[in-house]
Amino acid sequence: MRLRKKPWARPELEACKFVVTNPSQYKGKWKDFFKNDNEIYLELGCGRGKFIAENAVKKEDKNFIGIDIKDEVLVYAKRRVEEVFAENNKEINNVALIPMEIAFIENIFDKDEVSRIYLNFSTPWPKKDIIKGD
Ligand SMILES: C[S@@+](CC[C@H](N)C(=O)[O-])C[C@H]1O[C@@H](n2cnc3c(N)ncnc32)[C@H](O)[C@@H]1O
Repeated sequence: MRLRKKPWARPELEACKFVVTNPSQYKGKWKDFFKNDNEIYLELGCGRGKFIAENAVKKEDKNFIGIDIKDEVLVYAKRRVEEVFAENNKEINNVALIPMEIAFIENIFDKDEVSRIYLNFSTPWPKKDIIKGD
């Protein structure tokens, strides 16, 4: 997917309280971020956030984390989550969005910290030089 550069995307993400730009600090401690012990559902390559926004607003007893490598896409996921929760008059307290390459997820989750992983057309494009052993 070709994307136009959006210089405003990163600052908007960094200003958002449910966007985590330093996710490794929560490895093994996501319950501290969410302030509860609920299960974590992870979406890899969450894109513009339709799935995560619509599911997180319905399933308040689960924590949802969406990862996408593109700031220019994730910024729309952030806006979608805000819109869907506002439409439902709910506070956003079970969502985290992470701008990052999914090849590094081992750096941000402990074993068994995630209950479920969703891959919705994530079409990953891992670069050869960042995959272990290549
Ligand atoms: C085809 S889109 C699907 C988006 C969304 N899951 C949906 O169903 O609408 C694929 C998404 O995966 C992301 N992606 C692809 N490779 C990735 C990687 N290695 N790390 C993180 N995100 C990646 C892309 O930026 C893109 O937003």
